[in-house]
Amino acid sequence: MRILLLGAPGTGKGTQAKFIKQKYKIPQISTGDMLRENIYTKNKIGEDIQKIIKKGNLVSDEIVCNLIHDRIQKKDCKNGFILDGFPRTLEQCFYLSKNKIKIDYVLELILPYESILERISGRRIHIPSGRVYHVKFNPPKIKDQDDVTKELLITREDDQKASIKRRLEEYKKITYPLIEYYLNEKKINGIKFFQINTINSVLSVKKKIEEILKQ
Ligand code: AP5
Repeated sequence: MRILLLGAPGTGKGTQAKFIKQKYKIPQISTGDMLRENIYTKNKIGEDIQKIIKKGNLVSDEIVCNLIHDRIQKKDCKNGFILDGFPRTLEQCFYLSKNKIKIDYVLELILPYESILERISGRRIHIPSGRVYHVKFNPPKIKDQDDVTKELLITREDDQKASIKRRLEEYKKITYPLIEYYLNEKKINGIKFFQINTINSVLSVKKKIEEILKQ
């Protein structure tokens, strides 16, 4: 099962990917998490990536395609994977098709602008694991602590107002055209494409996705 999660920042891709991963025992491949790992471990490329992400811009196709290339070859991807936040440009879509990486489901998560802002501004994350919380909608058991490791949760650097604005602009201009690309793939190659409104609770969205993945 090869699933692709598309959607603007804050629509719930990471949150839902974690459920799909558990249920179907396939890995979540989040380019955002992988890039943040590079920043967190303070390696050489991490410094440049940090500047780009902080501004809310997209990292180069070359960097993210290389990350995907290495990750997808790992053994745990044999029975499928969830692509969370990749592809985000047409060039990245072409990378998948050129390398014959077949996708079964494309799920587009949709949420109104005001809700996106509310969700992003209350988000807290645990960088080493990629676990995501929300101060109001999905709070950790102990304030600001990861439920599993008890390590400190942080607010992402790009979850500030200016970067959110920029990320949403980048989504509209660069990533949104991918919807048309995948609608076309649906017609030509039979990819299963679904739009999911994520305004409802985390659990009701989870249920909706589970029903879709039975089709
Ligand atoms: P990335 O980490 O992928 O960020 P994003 O796409 O902007 O998406 P988010 O992580 O902000 O949101 P999400 O949809 O996962 O929502 P979440 O589940 O957290 O990328 C970050 C940056 O890395 C990019 O800007 C770019 O610079 C770079 N990058 C990454 N991939 C790239 C690529 N392919 N090419 C180039 N550059 C790339 O949910 C949000 C909040 O809402 C959470 O607090 C959650 O608890 C809460 N929540 C979720 N669902 C619900 C619900 N149903 N009800 C109530 N609350 C909810």
